[in-house]
Amino acid sequence: MTDKLIIFDTTLRDGEQSPGASMTREEKVRIARGLERMHVDVIEAGFPIASQGDFEAVKAVAESITESRVCGLARALDKDIERAGEALKGANAGRIHTFIATSPIHMKMKLRMEPDQVVEQAVRAVKLARQFTDDVEFSPEDAGRSEPDFLCRVLEAVIDAGARTVNIPDTVGYNVPQQFGGLILDLIQRVPNSDKAVFSVHCHNDLGLAVANSLAAVMNGARQVECTINGLGERAGNAALEEVVMAVKTRRDIFPCNVDHLDTTQIVTCSKLVSGITGFAVQPNKAIVGANAFAHESGIHQDGVLKSRETYEIMRAEDVGWSTNRMVLGKHSGRNAFKTHLKELGVDFASEAELNEAFSRFKDLADKKHEIYDEDLQALVTETNLEAENESLQLVALRVCSETGETPVADITVRVQGEERSATADGGGPVDAAFRAIESMMQSGCTLQLYSVNNITSGTDAQGEVTVRLEKGGHVVNGQGADTDIVIASAKAYINALNKVFARVERAHPQGSQV
Ligand code: KIV
Ligand code: ZN
Repeated sequence: MTDKLIIFDTTLRDGEQSPGASMTREEKVRIARGLERMHVDVIEAGFPIASQGDFEAVKAVAESITESRVCGLARALDKDIERAGEALKGANAGRIHTFIATSPIHMKMKLRMEPDQVVEQAVRAVKLARQFTDDVEFSPEDAGRSEPDFLCRVLEAVIDAGARTVNIPDTVGYNVPQQFGGLILDLIQRVPNSDKAVFSVHCHNDLGLAVANSLAAVMNGARQVECTINGLGERAGNAALEEVVMAVKTRRDIFPCNVDHLDTTQIVTCSKLVSGITGFAVQPNKAIVGANAFAHESGIHQDGVLKSRETYEIMRAEDVGWSTNRMVLGKHSGRNAFKTHLKELGVDFASEAELNEAFSRFKDLADKKHEIYDEDLQALVTETNLEAENESLQLVALRVCSETGETPVADITVRVQGEERSATADGGGPVDAAFRAIESMMQSGCTLQLYSVNNITSGTDAQGEVTVRLEKGGHVVNGQGADTDIVIASAKAYINALNKVFARVERAHPQGSQV
C-alpha cells in the first residue's frame, strides 16, 4: 500500500492568471465539472476578493460540485478570508487557501514588513480562516527563494494555528529538482509538527522545470501537488496536471504514492475543454495531450508498435482519453439525445430557451458536418454561452469575396446594443478584410496580438476554432469563435474579444500588494 497523492487543480485560479485566459462563471463551472469527473481532489476555483465576478464564480463552483473539495484563495488579510469564507458557504467540502510572502525580497520590497510581522499575520490569517472551515491551507509565497530557517519557523507557527495543508510554492520558477526535493525533505524533517499537516508543492515553469520539481518533491515527502490542465498559469505556467498524474501512474514502480483514485480517461476531454474556453491552443508535441503525443511517424516505430505496442509506447492513448474521439450525434439525433449527451459531458442548460438555442445550433452544424464529436458539442455550448453573455456586440451576417488576382472584400453586419450596423472593407486576405470591416465600425483602438486557427476534429468539414488576442492599454483579452467556415469563425472570435474589451472588469491580482 502506498499513500494517495492529492491532486489540487488550480486551472481556475492560477491558470486564469495567464494573460487573456479569464473565464466566465459558467465556463468555470463546466471546467470544474470536468475535473470532478476526473475525481480531482481539490479544485481551486478562484480568488473571491479579486472581483464580484470571481466571487460569484467561486460560489457557483462551490454550489455545483459535490465530490471534489472546492477551494478559494485569500491573501492573509481579514477581508480576503471573510470573502472566501462567504463564497464557499454552499460547498459540500470547502477549503480556504491563505498566503503571505516569506522571501527576503518580497518581505522587504513588496510587503515592507519585518519577518516577525509576517509570522504574526500568517498565524492570524490561519486562525481566522479556521473559523469558516476546518480545512485551511497556508502558502509561504516565494518559498523557493525564502530562507529555510525562516520557512521552518513560519510553517511550525501556521500548523499550530490550524493549517492542515502547508504548500511550498516556487512562485518564480527558480528552483531545480534536486535542490527543491532537498528543501521539501529538509522542511518535513525540521518542522517539529510536520506530521500534523500535508506538505504540498506549487511549482511555476519559468525554467521548464515545474513538473520535474513537483515530482522531486513527491519523492521527498510531498503528498499534494498543485497543478493545472495543459500547464496553464501565470507567465510560463504551472506544473501540468496531465504530466504529473501520468508520470506517477506510469512509474508506479518508483513513486512512493499513487493516483489510483483518478479517472485518467477524462484528461484529454478536460484538456480540450480548457483550451477551447481559454483559447490557449495545445502544442501538437505536448506530452499526454498534444495531438502527436501518441502518433508514431517513423516506419521503424510503426513497425515496432504493430508487432508489440510496448516497443515504443509507455502508456496507452486510451488511458488518457484519446479513444473517446468518436462520432456521438448526427443529423437525425433528437433533442432528448442531445440533452442527455450534453448532460454526460457535464453541461446542464439553465432554461428550456437555452437548450432550444443550443439544439438549433446543433441542427445547423449537423447539416454542414455529418459527424458530430464531443469536441464539436463543447465548442457549440461555448458559442451559445458567449452569445447569451455578450449582448452588446453580435455578428449578424458576413459576406466575403475572395478571388485569384483580386483584393478580398468583406461586407459585415453586426448588432451593436440592439442596433444593426454594416460596413465594407478590403484587406490582405478574407480574414484581414473582415477584421478591418469590424474595426471601421467599432474603432476599438485595440492591437491584434495573436490570431490562431485550430481544427476541432479532423477532416475538411471540421469546425475551425479561432482565437484572437487583443490588447488595449496593457489589458489583454482572448476571444474565441468556432464555425465550419473559418472566416466566419474568425469574425466571431474578433467580436467575442471586443465584447470582453468593452465589458472590461478590473480584477485584483493575488500577488499584488499584500497590505
Ligand atoms: O505562485 C504562487 O506563489 C501562488 C500562491 C498564491 C500559492 O500562486
Ligand atoms: Zn502560482
